[in-house]
Amino acid sequence: MIRPIGPTKPGVSRQMTVETTEPLYTRDIDLKPIQSRRLAIVGYGNHGRSHALCLRDSGVSGIRIALREGSPSRAKAEADGFEVVSLPDAAAWADAISLLAADEAHRQIWTEAIEPYRKPGQALIVCHGFSIHYGLIAPPADADIILAAAKGPGGAVRQEFEKGSGLIGFWAVHQDASGQARELALAYLSAIGSGQVGIFPTTFREETVSDLFGEQVVLVGGLVALAKASYERLVAAGVSERMAYIDCVHEIKYLADLIQSRGIAGMYEAISDTAEFGARQIEDRIAGPELKRVFDDAMADIESDRFARKWVETYEAGDAMKAERAADRALPIEAAGAELRSRIYGATK
Ligand SMILES: NC(=O)c1ccc[n+]([C@@H]2O[C@H](COP(=O)([O-])OP(=O)(O)OC[C@H]3O[C@@H](n4cnc5c(N)ncnc54)[C@H](OP(=O)(O)O)[C@@H]3O)[C@@H](O)[C@H]2O)c1
Repeated sequence: MIRPIGPTKPGVSRQMTVETTEPLYTRDIDLKPIQSRRLAIVGYGNHGRSHALCLRDSGVSGIRIALREGSPSRAKAEADGFEVVSLPDAAAWADAISLLAADEAHRQIWTEAIEPYRKPGQALIVCHGFSIHYGLIAPPADADIILAAAKGPGGAVRQEFEKGSGLIGFWAVHQDASGQARELALAYLSAIGSGQVGIFPTTFREETVSDLFGEQVVLVGGLVALAKASYERLVAAGVSERMAYIDCVHEIKYLADLIQSRGIAGMYEAISDTAEFGARQIEDRIAGPELKRVFDDAMADIESDRFARKWVETYEAGDAMKAERAADRALPIEAAGAELRSRIYGATK
């Protein structure tokens, strides 16, 4: 039986801001709260694998990886030297569960494979606030419920750790049953490298709303909409598909790298004056009233549980986005990109 998405509990996850924004670093943080616990990691995808490898290198011994039956990730986890167990076995064994499976599966995983078997007092750690903020998981009163978010893609967690660095970390406590939840959150984040660059406090609400909004309107949805529409406009103007793809899609990386390393003002200073002048002519027109309406709608869906409900229900109905993915593959813009990449890299990527 799957629990319906509940409204966010008033007074628990409604808080948007925190009192202090001062970061903590490795030198401020004791790793014992994580090193002394039996830790099971659910999922061995981008974040699961990176966290497991970094935590082990930071002295967390005996980590078990919990995977669903028939998981394609089993071979990789075993090749990395981890013991793979079932989710119920992990729930019965662990002092702390790091739930690094897809967010949309959390409700099913929790209800069917963790909650009925869990060891009393077991802490639950997530690296995105989605399932807790929207009430997909109703935490038992004896559990510490912790957000330990290293901000960025999972692969980058391990890459930065191997360089002796980390991704910026954000921690929050939804429920502190043991009185040690804060220390556990900080120890976990420090052990995956975030203590090298700074660990900031946040709230489940802030992290969830910000993450969803950013990826929907800029990083994924906004960027893809701009790239597709601008490519189509150039091709309609008679520009070759290859040239249009280069100017509207392929070069995004160079601009993104400049913004990441120098900021928006620094990017403007680094590019040609012609590009900067042209961009300044159009920036305000793109960010006009229609865009504001789109943003307001997206924010309203995220702040209510409308977006979360729609996504989890779509996922649980099966075959989510299968048709959209097939349709995307068939678009001319994909053929243009594949052709370009085969010329640049010598093989179709
Ligand atoms: N803090 C941040 O900035 C940040 C950034 C990205 C992601 N995240 C969070 O990290 C978590 C994991 O994301 P990811 O990028 O690592 O995802 P991912 O690479 O897609 O891996 C997802 C894992 O979940 C497992 N899984 C999916 N459905 C499952 C089910 N029904 N039962 C059991 N396991 C299931 C998959 O198992 P199989 O291997 O068996 O397929 C896979 O190992 C999510 O909470 C996500 O929001 C946080």
